[in-house]
Amino acid sequence: MIKRDDIQKIIETARIEEEVVGDFVSLKRRGVNYVGLCPFHNEKTPSFVVSPAKGIYKCFGCGKAGNAVNFVMEHEHYSYPEALKYLAKKYSIEIEEEELTPEKQQEMDERDAMFVLNNFINGYFRDNLFKSDEGKAVGLTYFKERGFLESTIEKFQLGYAKNSRNDYSKHALDNGFKKEILIKTGLGIEKGDEIIDRFRGRVMFPIHNLTGKVIGFGGRILGNDKSTAKYLNSPQSEIYDKSKTLYGIYFAKSAILKSDNCYLVEGYTDVISMHQAGIENVVASSGTSLTIDQIKLIKRFTPNITMLYDGDPAGIKASFRGTDLILEQGMNVKIVLFPEGEDPDSFVRNHRTSEVEEYITGNAVDFIKFKTKLLLNETEGDPAARAGLIKDIVQTIAHIPDQIVRTVYIQECSAIMDVPEQTLMNELNKLIRQKFRKKTKSVENEIPVTETYKQPQNIEFDPLDTTYQEKELIRLLLLYGDKFFDEKVEGKKEPVSYNIAKYVVDDLVEDEIEFKNSSYQKIFDEFKKALENDEIPKLSYLTSHPDSEISETVIEIVSFPYDLSDNWEKNKIYVKTEEDQLKTLTKTTLLALKEKYLSKRLKEIELKLKEESDFEEIQILLDEYKNLKDVHKQINEALERQILP
Ligand code: CTP
Ligand code: MN
Repeated sequence: MIKRDDIQKIIETARIEEEVVGDFVSLKRRGVNYVGLCPFHNEKTPSFVVSPAKGIYKCFGCGKAGNAVNFVMEHEHYSYPEALKYLAKKYSIEIEEEELTPEKQQEMDERDAMFVLNNFINGYFRDNLFKSDEGKAVGLTYFKERGFLESTIEKFQLGYAKNSRNDYSKHALDNGFKKEILIKTGLGIEKGDEIIDRFRGRVMFPIHNLTGKVIGFGGRILGNDKSTAKYLNSPQSEIYDKSKTLYGIYFAKSAILKSDNCYLVEGYTDVISMHQAGIENVVASSGTSLTIDQIKLIKRFTPNITMLYDGDPAGIKASFRGTDLILEQGMNVKIVLFPEGEDPDSFVRNHRTSEVEEYITGNAVDFIKFKTKLLLNETEGDPAARAGLIKDIVQTIAHIPDQIVRTVYIQECSAIMDVPEQTLMNELNKLIRQKFRKKTKSVENEIPVTETYKQPQNIEFDPLDTTYQEKELIRLLLLYGDKFFDEKVEGKKEPVSYNIAKYVVDDLVEDEIEFKNSSYQKIFDEFKKALENDEIPKLSYLTSHPDSEISETVIEIVSFPYDLSDNWEKNKIYVKTEEDQLKTLTKTTLLALKEKYLSKRLKEIELKLKEESDFEEIQILLDEYKNLKDVHKQINEALERQILP
């Protein structure tokens, strides 16, 4: 754990423009900002802007934004603490790691020891393959027969475990490795007093994590003996979680980024053969169904997944659940079927790279359309099954978070299945309502989420919507929270000086107004909390907040649209006048927000009055209505005065 003070120091010291981003991107000064070609997507004209003043970057092409720490995380694929350590090292900032508890320390030591052992054994397996008689005769011959080149074997660090009871376990113990660690990694198995080898007489595939460390192994038998499991894998351990791992990710990550697509295959050998053919953006789920963690791992590099499958219908159907998870992440899935009986490995071996590439691009179909067609063929002439099919497809579409994308799919599937769009849309609405209810645990009569059919892009203007005012207040807090404005107060000679953050927070707290938007509310709460100690949260603290909802929203608000755009001259003037108008701006926005709350309440009362029959209730409602109407009038008058000072 890095201490909070140290984190703050790192963030404040890091000069985003020259030393952090500047290390990776060539930046040109433009006004108060710097611009360059975005490192996160391919572009020819620069839309990547860095603001030294705010310590943030934003790409107006792909939308990526963040501060120095986020940049290092994103660019180098570091975790948060890794990025902090990188920056600390760069600026020679001493970081004091918080004392670990003895148990934690032991856990860390154990993990380290496991990595060291895996690395040691991996080296031993590799030596076996190339240097021992058994390894050369059996292992190396096997790989060569499969068509693996020596350079490929080296790259993937393939090896060989001898066919012996305790060959490598003994070797490890002789070299000072502890028995417990052998057992913890799963390399050794305890048999009485003895430690015996898990992997015997197998060719070995080390499994690497994102940073290239060996976390486990897969071992394949030689030949096709159907009575033994073809592959044996390391068991789950403190450093190897199969459900979070993708085979080949370490070797594929930069190619995935570059091509903005990830091929997903089933097996170790599929990954290796494709690499050998020069197709490197490929990872394997290692024969299990895809998990959400694996999908998120891919999502760090690209939103696009292409699944490469052999044409076996059972296998394809097994993949359907995984694809729903991918869609749920807002990612795009395509599928490529290889001729039946061929997996990517065999296909690549029998074709030239150009043919493989042509085959993939020529046969990649959108997953939802693929599923629709497949099920359609299966249910031909069976009306009951057809009905089930509609439900099935709509269920898949309901996983997509983006409404516009959903609507497009509804249209396309309606055409493929020859079912009216409205039928699919109704089914979809039903599902989404159910999902929504489950999420909010709410009851029947709560606001239903309904797709706006016909004109999906046309978001209705709601005069009572407070999003704009909420966002504007947060923006004022973030950019000008520490500024002051003066105001004459009745009964006082000297004008009173008000701090913007305090003014806004006090005003809203007094009127018990809460933000509808939960991210804005969270940011507001940060201000409220800080003000209790007479502090105002620093922008750098918020842009690097551990709660990514806060940091992302803050970055989004302060980087758009005011002074990260090209038009800096004009904007400089704009920002200047904005500072002059802070008082008006703050008060107007607060009033406008309250006005909306009041209008909404007034509308509610009007509706209730129409339905209420109890005389006393009517009287109470009318009283409230009258009071609110008065306040509403005052606010509107004040608003007019504010706008025309
Ligand atoms: N697998 C496994 N255990 C098994 C069988 C398979 O862990 N007993 C995993 C392996 O990661 C394997 C993947 O599932 O790579 C796909 O299995 P399969 O298609 O049967 O093997 P291939 O990768 O085609 O292996 P090979 O070409 O060597 O036969
Ligand atoms: Mn195979």
